[in-house]
Amino acid sequence: KLEKTLGYIKPDAVDKLGDVLEAISERGLLIAKMRLCKMTENDAFLFYQEHSGKSFMRDLLNYVTQGPVVAFELVGENAINRWRELIGPTDPSKARAEASTSLRARFGTDVTHNGFHGSDSPASASREIEFFFPSSGRNTLPNCV
Ligand code: CMP
Repeated sequence: KLEKTLGYIKPDAVDKLGDVLEAISERGLLIAKMRLCKMTENDAFLFYQEHSGKSFMRDLLNYVTQGPVVAFELVGENAINRWRELIGPTDPSKARAEASTSLRARFGTDVTHNGFHGSDSPASASREIEFFFPSSGRNTLPNCV
């Protein structure tokens, strides 16, 4: 099934952009949209609102607001699962234990500082694409180029 998904490179992995573009291309996903954004605390809280009660929320907000992120809209057959396979398990140490060549295994640090995000369902993908690439062009996420 032809799908769209939202991926982004977290601040400490943005310098791996070239490797990420190579991995996306090798996997046969298409980058339909791409932008560099500096999320504010409020932006990050909205993006991760489903995790607002979790113990790791504070660390997560600090992490994803520490510098700019690179967001992509990816398109392809089963794009949601294919991008999630490409980035690997949430915890990079688990990814490395599996001898995975995933992006988190290669470039992630720990379960919070895992370098990459991918939408987990079609509903999340729609919401998250709209978050980074608002169709209305309204001022919903201003600190982007
Ligand atoms: P992400 O795919 O962006 O979705 C939620 C983020 O919370 C996750 O990647 C990690 O950066 C962070 N996180 C920190 N601890 C955990 C945890 N125990 N389980 C899931 N996500 C976590």
